[in-house]
Amino acid sequence: MGTEVAWHLACVRCDATYPGLDSRYRCDCSGTLDVIHDLSTCNLTREVLDARLASKAPLDRSGVWRFRELILPLPDEVLEGVAAARGEGSTQLYDASAVGREVGVEDLWLKHEGENPTGSFKDRGMTAAITVAKTLGMSAVACASTGNTSASMASYAAISGLDAIVFIPEGKIAFGKLSQALAYGAKTIQIEGDFDDAMALVQDVCASEGIYLVNSINPFRIEGQKAIGFEIMQDLDWQVPDWIVLPGGNLGNNTAISKGLLELLELGIIDRLPRLAVVQAAGANPLYTAWLGGEDVEPVKADTIATAIKIGNPVSWRKSMRGIEALHGVVTEVTDDQIMDAKALVDAAGIGAEPASCATVAGIHRLVGEGVIGSDERVVGILTGNVLKDPDVVVNYHAGELDGIESRRVNAPISARADLDEIRRIIRQ
Ligand code: F0G
Repeated sequence: MGTEVAWHLACVRCDATYPGLDSRYRCDCSGTLDVIHDLSTCNLTREVLDARLASKAPLDRSGVWRFRELILPLPDEVLEGVAAARGEGSTQLYDASAVGREVGVEDLWLKHEGENPTGSFKDRGMTAAITVAKTLGMSAVACASTGNTSASMASYAAISGLDAIVFIPEGKIAFGKLSQALAYGAKTIQIEGDFDDAMALVQDVCASEGIYLVNSINPFRIEGQKAIGFEIMQDLDWQVPDWIVLPGGNLGNNTAISKGLLELLELGIIDRLPRLAVVQAAGANPLYTAWLGGEDVEPVKADTIATAIKIGNPVSWRKSMRGIEALHGVVTEVTDDQIMDAKALVDAAGIGAEPASCATVAGIHRLVGEGVIGSDERVVGILTGNVLKDPDVVVNYHAGELDGIESRRVNAPISARADLDEIRRIIRQ
């Protein structure tokens, strides 16, 4: 049985507060909103969480709802009826020391969020946001997306009987992701323009049509995504690593992870905080530029092979910066070449991930080289999406046909006649 914890919404810019279950995502002053839990009434412990790992109850088996007091603390009997869950989370934390040796850090672990039901970390935030949509009695949900959010929303809306409307930048999302939105039955609208145009549009559409917006501007998306950090801690038997490293696009994920870890610390479930490193693609680096200059984020026109993080005007940057500072974090950037080198490494290790995810490993390489991450430190990198999300990039990389990218670890397919001698010759080569 979970403990009930009071919560409310609070503006990140001014002092305004709102009721916990509200369909707004912005304050009247237009600042974004946080979910604030009253942790003084929360008696969650490591023992309770570890016992839930062995439980067969559906909520306990979800790697998000296992942590429900810190996600959406409705009474268990209410959540059991309403939670839009499909076994999200409980992803593998790989001992990746072989990859680590290549990038200069021995004690490397990779948390593979591509092993979620729709193949990306978005399922963690989506189960929370769709559950809130149902609780609020909404009938339709929408998002703008570089692909993974739309895939996840389409699936979670379908299992919940909600209408789903997706706004994507035309011709700019990976095929695996577009296929999922179509397959799960979302109304898929391809916008002339980029993700940032789609993001601006969807906010207006949702406001005028009474549709529930489930981009990471939605505070409950952030609540669900906190579970990545919770699960990393539980995977490591509550021994806090030195670093958590992840890619940054719209900046919801790093916001979520730092918020969640600060809550775990406040509850005494962990005894210190890891440092956080956010890695941007050099062609989509507004946070990196702002962080270097100590300034507000200025939008840029984004361009990178890692289409998932091709975002120039991130909505959550203010919350994101706050979390990075609280965790003594850093922001870095990596080139498309470095992303693809790292991807070839992660893929060939048998783990595999989509390009944006591999910015994580490229970023670790760079930060170790600069002496920011020590080679003897324990590092957990987050792989955000599955290798199958973007098959075109993989095949073109191994054919040496990616514009502007040097394919340094080519594994090209070999054409052969169906002839034993020819096959023998090829195998022995
Ligand atoms: N990695 C992957 C695979 C993503 O799909 C995204 C974001 C990120 C990293 C960046 O996470 O936005 O929280 O900083 N994809 C969004 C989408 C924008 O629409 O699927 P973030």
